[in-house]
Amino acid sequence: MSAGEAEGAASAPAGARVDATPAGVALAPLDAVADGAARNFVLQLRAGRFHGFVVRRGEAVFGYIDRCPHAGLPLAQVLDDYVAAGHVRCSWHGALFRVEDGACVAGPCVGARLAAWPVTVCDGIIVTA
Ligand code: FES
Repeated sequence: MSAGEAEGAASAPAGARVDATPAGVALAPLDAVADGAARNFVLQLRAGRFHGFVVRRGEAVFGYIDRCPHAGLPLAQVLDDYVAAGHVRCSWHGALFRVEDGACVAGPCVGARLAAWPVTVCDGIIVTA
């Protein structure tokens, strides 16, 4: 199953957002994300639309739901612009989150955490876990 065909688009309620994805959805080749950078993914699922992003660190990937715990906004105002100074950065009020666990270490929501999106790399492809 690829990201574009995850569970069919026809039955999703208009505007519905979901916070989880089925396992085994192929998202992109690992090489499509530069080391240290991030990439946005939107998956149209039967239950609604999922918005997330993946950060690459070497051969590892870390996925998060694209929603800042400060004000609930998507973090990036420019496509794929999620990383600054080695952290995930929210573009609205500057919250910084550790890549490894999504914990906020600076900004207006210190102590809060990004919601994890389980992803992994299988045979060079980033897939949902
Ligand atoms: S919405 Fe992210 S820091 Fe305010």
